[in-house]
Amino acid sequence: MRIDILTVLPEMIEGMIHCSIVKRAQNKGLVEIHLHNLRDYTTNKWRRVDDYPFGGEAGMVMQIEPIERAISSLKEQRAYDEVIYTSPDGETFSQPMANGMSLLTNMIILCGHYKGVDYRIREHLITKEISIGDYVLTGGELAAAVMTDAIVRLIPGAIGDEQSALSDSFQDNLLAPPVYTRPADYKGWKVPDILLSGHARNIAEWRLQQAQERTARLRPDLLE
Ligand code: ADE
Repeated sequence: MRIDILTVLPEMIEGMIHCSIVKRAQNKGLVEIHLHNLRDYTTNKWRRVDDYPFGGEAGMVMQIEPIERAISSLKEQRAYDEVIYTSPDGETFSQPMANGMSLLTNMIILCGHYKGVDYRIREHLITKEISIGDYVLTGGELAAAVMTDAIVRLIPGAIGDEQSALSDSFQDNLLAPPVYTRPADYKGWKVPDILLSGHARNIAEWRLQQAQERTARLRPDLLE
């Protein structure tokens, strides 16, 4: 898989791509992540990427030219499955979307900023618009980072124990059951006996019951 992220603030994403599982997945050759500074695609000497909106609203709008040049240059080099735009008015990101996107070969993620991008970019170049939740961020960089993390960890081989991605919260529409580690008794706070019993089938049954009980209590909407 290859992910190309177009942004005016690559430094906001730089840190996370060099950490943890996302870093390991790159080192293993499972994914390439490339950050592109949209200012490198400007043709004006101030490297400006935004301008005032037609019609005189407050705020600035990202211009077509640097974005179109960046996307065209990438598309000349390879085919892309999706050109994604991060925006609060996109489809809400979810685990099923992450699962689907983990199967893609190449994707571009364009991070929105200011008042957004010139709408013609969305009409002509974007194939999918994604929001990470009903709140407004200062830009799409954190959204791109969240999606990249959620997608990359699902690529087979990214997580050491393959089972562990499958038992995450939201896979199967269930929250994950509680987990515990040593010591079995911390100042009287005890781990449930069943987990110390060594009965694999009973433990699996207990985990499923816990997952169902927690989902019904905390996220009943997932069971509908
Ligand atoms: N840009 C600003 N807010 C956002 C959000 N909630 N999701 C995705 N991109 C955004």
